[in-house]
Amino acid sequence: MSRWLDLSVITSLFQKAYINDDDFERKFKVSKESSYYRRNRAYINSISTKDTGTYHGLFGFIRSVFNKYSTRATPIYELVSDSVKSDKDGSVNFEVLNTKDNVLISFRLTFHDGEIFRIRASEKDPLIPRYDEAAGFALVDGKEGPPLLDPSAIKATAETVDGPKVFTYTFGTTDSGKGSQSKKIRITEKPWKIEYLIGDEVVLQLNNNEYFNFEHHREKTEANEADVENGWSESFKNWTDEKPRGPESVGIDIEFPGFEHVYGIPEHSSPLSLKPTRGAEGGYTEPYRLYNVDTFEYNVDSPHGLYGSVPLMLAHNTKHTVGALWMSSAETWVDITKEEKSKVTTHWVSESGIMDIMVMTGPKPSDVFAQYAKATGTTAFPRDFSIAYHQCRWSYMSQKEVEEINSKFDDHSIPYDVIWLDIDYTDGMRYFTWNKMTFPDPEKLHRLLDETKRKVVTIIDPHIKVDEDYFVYQEAKENGYIIKDMKGKNFEGWCWPGSSAYIDFTNEKAREWWQKHYSFDIFKGSFPNTLIWNDMNEMAVFNQSELTLPRNLVHKNGWEQRDVHNLMGMLFHRSTFEGLVKREATPKRPFVLSRSYFAGSQRYGPVWTGDNAANWEHLAVSVPMVLSNSIAGIHFVGADVGGFFKDGDPELFTRWYQLGIWYPFFRGHTHRDSCRKEPWSMGEPHTSIIRDAILLRYRLLPYWYTLFRHSNVSGTPIARPLWVEFPEQPELFAEDKLFMVGSSLLIAPVLEPMQAKDEHAKASASEITIAFPKNAVWYDFFTHKAHKGGETLTRNVELSQIPAYVRGGSIVPTRERQRRSSELMRNDPYTLHIYVDEDGSAKGDLYIDDGETFDFEKGGYIHSSFEFSENKLVSSQNQDPKDVSIDAEVRNKYRESVEHIRIERIIVVGYQKVAAKAFISDSQGADREVDVEEDPITGSLVVRNPSVSVAHDWTIELKQQ
Ligand code: NOJ
Repeated sequence: MSRWLDLSVITSLFQKAYINDDDFERKFKVSKESSYYRRNRAYINSISTKDTGTYHGLFGFIRSVFNKYSTRATPIYELVSDSVKSDKDGSVNFEVLNTKDNVLISFRLTFHDGEIFRIRASEKDPLIPRYDEAAGFALVDGKEGPPLLDPSAIKATAETVDGPKVFTYTFGTTDSGKGSQSKKIRITEKPWKIEYLIGDEVVLQLNNNEYFNFEHHREKTEANEADVENGWSESFKNWTDEKPRGPESVGIDIEFPGFEHVYGIPEHSSPLSLKPTRGAEGGYTEPYRLYNVDTFEYNVDSPHGLYGSVPLMLAHNTKHTVGALWMSSAETWVDITKEEKSKVTTHWVSESGIMDIMVMTGPKPSDVFAQYAKATGTTAFPRDFSIAYHQCRWSYMSQKEVEEINSKFDDHSIPYDVIWLDIDYTDGMRYFTWNKMTFPDPEKLHRLLDETKRKVVTIIDPHIKVDEDYFVYQEAKENGYIIKDMKGKNFEGWCWPGSSAYIDFTNEKAREWWQKHYSFDIFKGSFPNTLIWNDMNEMAVFNQSELTLPRNLVHKNGWEQRDVHNLMGMLFHRSTFEGLVKREATPKRPFVLSRSYFAGSQRYGPVWTGDNAANWEHLAVSVPMVLSNSIAGIHFVGADVGGFFKDGDPELFTRWYQLGIWYPFFRGHTHRDSCRKEPWSMGEPHTSIIRDAILLRYRLLPYWYTLFRHSNVSGTPIARPLWVEFPEQPELFAEDKLFMVGSSLLIAPVLEPMQAKDEHAKASASEITIAFPKNAVWYDFFTHKAHKGGETLTRNVELSQIPAYVRGGSIVPTRERQRRSSELMRNDPYTLHIYVDEDGSAKGDLYIDDGETFDFEKGGYIHSSFEFSENKLVSSQNQDPKDVSIDAEVRNKYRESVEHIRIERIIVVGYQKVAAKAFISDSQGADREVDVEEDPITGSLVVRNPSVSVAHDWTIELKQQ
């Protein structure tokens, strides 16, 4: 009884405070409410020769005239003459002087393997240290990043030609189609700036506008303490942020000459091609914010910060792609101006810490992805079930309800793999416990689900109920793992369990302790088929400023929450991931969904886009949100299918499934106050249409799994913006309705409701327009009708239709037998779909492994390449990534275990010739011949039952006779 009371009181407190507010976003800061942002802007406005604000009316006119004719101050930072020196390890060091306060800032430029360079800057003699640990958590090799390039590979020159000294460092070459070009860094002494060039073309510039500003620590004096703008405290609404270290911040401009589009810096509910934030009609009037907060039911088309932050920006034009990672875990604001065509200027300002920028030098999109993966790691390779369909609701309230839902999936012949338990399964939001009344026998529940190889995901949030009898709280307190306030007391805030403590996950001891809770002995009632959901890890605190931890809370080594804020979600996610790896004697690949994230989170599991709403705007914005995350390394990502808040209507619900099957992470989820949203909840014809959509996802699982392999090995995104696949077609650079899944599937989702042309008529279809990318032929996935690249197609899409196209030149593997869960498909045969290009050729691949252990790291997999040309399909297994240590025994054992798995059908689409027979020669079997048929509906050729093994090399040749 009291448990329910607790939750309803908390929920209503939460709703009163945050939901029933017209001006939702006023719960969160805008840039002018941040003193360090104001100071940085005031500084750049004082020195800048141009003004990038958007001003309207008479005031605007006066302001623009004033700006034009007013005199500008000289920038206060100067590069110290003759300070530029190369070190033995190939790094370059120099100093910049704050001429106003006579404070030196030390710079270090390093070159890393993989053609990445990095620039770090900090105070030379700091009064107190500045936070510089973010890289240690974000980078896969630790704080220093990928190994340094051999110094002999760097060529340094210095010159002074009628002007300032210029230092050039050549560190690589690239062949971007026009012969070999060198990659260089150029440091100019006055006005000082750092530039990255390919050949003679400048691709990225740092401090070209002299926005560099490094607010150094100062002694506290009576005068500066009282100075509100520069002071030791600041207020937002009723909250005061005391700053015992005083103000500090860091800012600089990063400019991309020759570019019109920049992307990335998720998470925002904004278009894929980032909008200008200053000085442009149709742009935003606020900078993009990177500050992880619990922004449920967020506004669509906004630069406000959401649950996760990846401070990686990509710029792309027809010649180059480049990426800049701003390694700060503090709150960061990013302004974007596009004053001149073909130049994007960005201005980055963070509240604290050092300046640490890593540049992925490209020049192709795939190079940037590989470089970023080298720096921050690749996607944790998921278990096979985790890329199938997941069913969630806040909450399935009892074991009985879960059992009912489970059998309804079977009654409706809809496959699913995972049922999710939201907060109500716990004993009063004490994580790692069960509500014994409503979930009396978790073991029975897990056994039941295991009969169909289904899994249970239980939510584990980071807030710990303050309860002296709760073992997690007791231990956290005893061990000193709770985050403290400024006075050294354990901080307590409000969240689902009522008064809650928060663990300091920056402390490795606390992380290790947390991991242990996932052992089956401690989390009683969890089993090998229990996986985990980490929610509220921004960290969410209902009764604090911006619904999160106060900035001056104290972490290990005295760092403040403001320094580490954007890392919190990732560190919690990481601890859970590491705990799951350790819980079984033969480790299985963990599955942990996280709401909050940072650069590098891809190493620990999927994320989702948080609390969206059941409306068309949220459906549509989920596409650029998934894509922006994807290009920033967060490949395993999805949005709540069906919309979290509100009911929506059956049409929206159905369209959402038809889009959701193309999200890398595919989960239906909804709020406790929304209507039922299981796939059958809207009745017919919706149930059948949704079933077909989910079945399509299951059929294509082999294609998806192979894409995840590439993501895990080379950092290639799974859901891809069109420009990634067609980097030389500028008309596609801002496209964010159409997208690719892998390099073969073009998805054209329906993002608007049907609208009848005549107001009395009832619409029966939606109309969409698809401009097919050039230089390819495109086949309708269902009818096999061919469309030429460059063609613009306007078509009706009936509710039962899913517009998807396949790029000619692809080979796509599927599994066509319907089962109740993906694991039950493991021994099923495959079908290969060959879609020929204009030359009659196609390529593809298929990756398979045991779907759950880490044996794939030792060679326990099959990765076949398929090539079709000149009427012949060749399958060969030659795809071992470099640097992999193969264990022959593991490899052979796995091969033997899949020997029996066959290719049961080959479909050739767009093949212009006649073929009656297919001749099969199998490396480990007798040669044979089968008939070739023509599909009466699509006209495509079908080779039935070639019966070749996935574990062999073989060829199949089509012949007229
Ligand atoms: C907030 C999450 O975003 C949502 O998905 C979940 O259902 C609720 N917390 C309750 O746990």
